[in-house]
Amino acid sequence: MKAEAGIELKDTVALEEQYQLATYKKMPIVAERGAGVWLYDDDGQKYLDLYGGHAVAGTGHSHPHVVAALREQADKLLFYSNLVYSEARARAAEKLVTVAPDSLAKVFFCNSGTEANENAMRMARLATGRANVITFSGGFHGRTADAISATFLGKYRDLGKPNVPGHVAAEFGDLESVRRLADDSVAAIMLEPIQSMAGVRMAAPEFYAGLRQLCDERGIVLIYDEVQTGVGRTGEWFFAGSAAGGRVVPDVITLAKALGSGIPVGACLVAEKIAAKINENDLGTTFGGGMMAMAAFSATLEAIEQDDMLANVSAVEAHLRESLASLPEILEVAGKGFLLGLRFKGKAADIHRALLERRIITGTSSDPNVLRLLPPLCLAKPEVDLFVTSLREACESCEQRL
Ligand SMILES: Cc1ncc(COP(=O)(O)O)c(C=O)c1O
Repeated sequence: MKAEAGIELKDTVALEEQYQLATYKKMPIVAERGAGVWLYDDDGQKYLDLYGGHAVAGTGHSHPHVVAALREQADKLLFYSNLVYSEARARAAEKLVTVAPDSLAKVFFCNSGTEANENAMRMARLATGRANVITFSGGFHGRTADAISATFLGKYRDLGKPNVPGHVAAEFGDLESVRRLADDSVAAIMLEPIQSMAGVRMAAPEFYAGLRQLCDERGIVLIYDEVQTGVGRTGEWFFAGSAAGGRVVPDVITLAKALGSGIPVGACLVAEKIAAKINENDLGTTFGGGMMAMAAFSATLEAIEQDDMLANVSAVEAHLRESLASLPEILEVAGKGFLLGLRFKGKAADIHRALLERRIITGTSSDPNVLRLLPPLCLAKPEVDLFVTSLREACESCEQRL
């Protein structure tokens, strides 16, 4: 059976089921096109996407500025590796450093979140001459060998067996549990500053400040995995340096997801003192820093600036929180900006399904009671109102089913 133009939904589904490894639980949507916060299926039905294509569509789907930049770059040169200089890469690196906290002055480009984390941990080992890495229970860092070994969340770590040695887990938010592990074998402490998959868990500002102090005292590299929290999601460019994070700036920030508006781009933002210890050939990847990726990346940051999306995130978050306060089914709204976890008395999976029936896409998490929202940064108040109305109906329909 071969795919042909104009195939029907059932054929598309059947083809994917037949030919793709069955590693994903999919929603019954055949995605055809997108615009801003809306995703359209091949029947022309539109869905409000509050999951942002897996936290990737930060600028919204197919932002015109990003699409135009990709078209322009595609006409010039699709790719050449880091063995040559490139204006697209030079401008992208400068742009990222410009918006980063002051001490983070160097960039390494790669292709995904897991790869950014692998490289961050390697840099920490090279810089310190030590091997071990402390991460946190509930943290998720990716699925390649070192990153999955650093992931102490549910079944994930076991999937990576035999794990890379030297990974230990502390309790998120508990500084004492970190102190106990932070001996002179430790190269890095790595954390998602807001644990997303665990159900959107955030610590007190003092926790982040305590980690910074501990790392300084014991010569440990502090790595923030901002694959989800970075690039404006919290209403600031990064969680690093924010008031909610005690103004703490780590030694390395890892980034991916929304960085390229859908074109795979990963990056490590690195402090000078770490960068000084990294030599030729210590890190590398063929596709990292390729021209199409760099064009997407620069245009993404420009779109966020031009459309004033950081201010939008903060304003619309406030409106969303206010509106959600009228729903008694919600026990808590955790997180910051557009990384929010809505805690329900009942199962989040039921609410997720009921919302999908109303053509609203949300996310679940490893906490069965938490529904996650990771919408594009351009989500506006009228769309929030539509969501809240639909959520009220969804809650009612779930209660009726019980
Ligand atoms: C916090 C965090 N780190 C790392 C990753 C891995 O990113 P990727 O899937 O691009 O490898 C993810 C992916 O969900 C993530 O949420």
